[in-house]
Amino acid sequence: CCLLLTLALFVPCHAASRKCDLHGLWRNELGSNMTVLAVNTAGTFSGSYHTAVAATNKQILVSPLQGAQQHPGAKRHPTFGFTVQWQFSDSTTAFVGQCFVDHRGKETLETMWLLREEVLSHKDTWKATRVGTSIFTRIK
Ligand code: BTN
Repeated sequence: CCLLLTLALFVPCHAASRKCDLHGLWRNELGSNMTVLAVNTAGTFSGSYHTAVAATNKQILVSPLQGAQQHPGAKRHPTFGFTVQWQFSDSTTAFVGQCFVDHRGKETLETMWLLREEVLSHKDTWKATRVGTSIFTRIK
């Protein structure tokens, strides 16, 4: 009875106080997969991005990402940003977002992104940038 009471009180509190951790394997609504390696004490991290979709017809390749998180280890819902250097196109994507953890301990990364494609002349700059939102959920 005491054990059950302890569990009932402790488990929800524990989940509610958990900090969101970027380290791991994530998937977004497009089916893209992203691996974030350990975040160091300065808040910087690297990883890889396997996009499920592309604006080019080239074969998709897993591409490296580099990012930084604010206040590593201190905040429950930290902000972060990262860029992906696509290995199969001339484009670059920059993501910014915030890591949230709900009362059950479920983590999501709520992001916005800008994709800049290479254009041959600055006259084509007007059509060179796409923008979107993306939500990642942890798969591992
Ligand atoms: C390219 O098409 O030039 C590179 C791939 C871009 C993939 C984009 S990045 C934003 C959006 N979210 C994804 O998971 N994939 C697309």
